[in-house]
Amino acid sequence: MNELKEKLLNMIDYTCNETFNKTNGLKKVVVNDDIVDVELYISDENNKEALQETKNAIVRLVKLTLGYKGIKIKFIPIGLKNTIYDNDCKFILVGSGKGGVGKSNVCANLGYALTRLDKKVGIVDADIYGASIPNVLGLPRIEARGDEFGNLIPFEAFNMEMVSTEFFVEENKPLMWRGPMLQSMLDHFFHKTNWNPNLDYLLIDLPPGTGDIAIDLGQMIPQGNMIVVTTPHMSASYIATKAGLGAKQMKQNVIGVVENMSYFINPVNNQKEEIFGAGGGMVVAKNLETELLAQIPIGQAKNYLFESNEAIGKVYDELAKKVINILK
Ligand SMILES: Nc1ncnc2c1ncn2[C@@H]1O[C@H](COP(=O)(O)OP(=O)(O)OP(=O)(O)O)[C@@H](O)[C@H]1O
Ligand SMILES: [Mg+2]
Repeated sequence: MNELKEKLLNMIDYTCNETFNKTNGLKKVVVNDDIVDVELYISDENNKEALQETKNAIVRLVKLTLGYKGIKIKFIPIGLKNTIYDNDCKFILVGSGKGGVGKSNVCANLGYALTRLDKKVGIVDADIYGASIPNVLGLPRIEARGDEFGNLIPFEAFNMEMVSTEFFVEENKPLMWRGPMLQSMLDHFFHKTNWNPNLDYLLIDLPPGTGDIAIDLGQMIPQGNMIVVTTPHMSASYIATKAGLGAKQMKQNVIGVVENMSYFINPVNNQKEEIFGAGGGMVVAKNLETELLAQIPIGQAKNYLFESNEAIGKVYDELAKKVINILK
């Protein structure tokens, strides 16, 4: 059965010239009384010639090469596939170039604020150097779970769905993957994960840096919208600008800047104190010809995420409204 499945995944959907593995097109395969019953998503139902070619190749594989007695094939046009891609989910990349500026916090809190506005949200923790979304959400260690076709089942928490690189590593061990493995993990997150097909937003928490991952993601989700996170400090804003320019080069839409750790409200006199300097967010927004969407004060959430009845939660509510408006 495994051999059959593997071989079917390597067959080509000639209506788009990609393997069914690549298109995530193998919906079902069962064998009863030596008869293979297979359902496949195909990309272009109107290309009858290519469809016939695809069918012939599969029949040859199943009956001649693998020796099964018979085969039933059902093709389902991809329009019915019902995935986040068909249903107009918006992709939001949260990045910064610099480490430790609060990308993961902003990503999780923005996601959570969007759910408070009745949006369906998924989060991809794409930080290969140190997954942190599970931490920000206060989740215990999570093992990857998959369905019978090897699709990943996202974890659900705080009304959001989430997948993380942490699913794939041993506790407290750094992830040292490079190149193809990384690519295939990201591919899994985007194409082989059972996201709620009606997600409104898929947020992607990027690792620090502007390297490989940004490029891989640029190719995987060409319609990405980037939020650049920075701190008020000039050194962070310099690198954040670079990250934003990199995203623009990948033809991603930089929708705005979030300045994190902008100020501290001194509880003694209620004055704003600009502990980490001032102006970084504005500089980045200007350099990238985009908007400064929010300035998040310094503060520790009681339970991982900020709620609407907390000052910082309110800032996130406003940020979420702006994001919804921009991506309308
Ligand atoms: N507004 C804030 N007020 C206080 N602490 C914050 C704030 N934002 C983030 N932090 C803290 O700063 C640290 C770094 O935050 P976070 O992990 O979100 O940054 P990051 O940019 O994702 O880091 P990395 O580059 O490692 O992925 C965490 O300890 C977090 O709790
Ligand atoms: Mg992070």
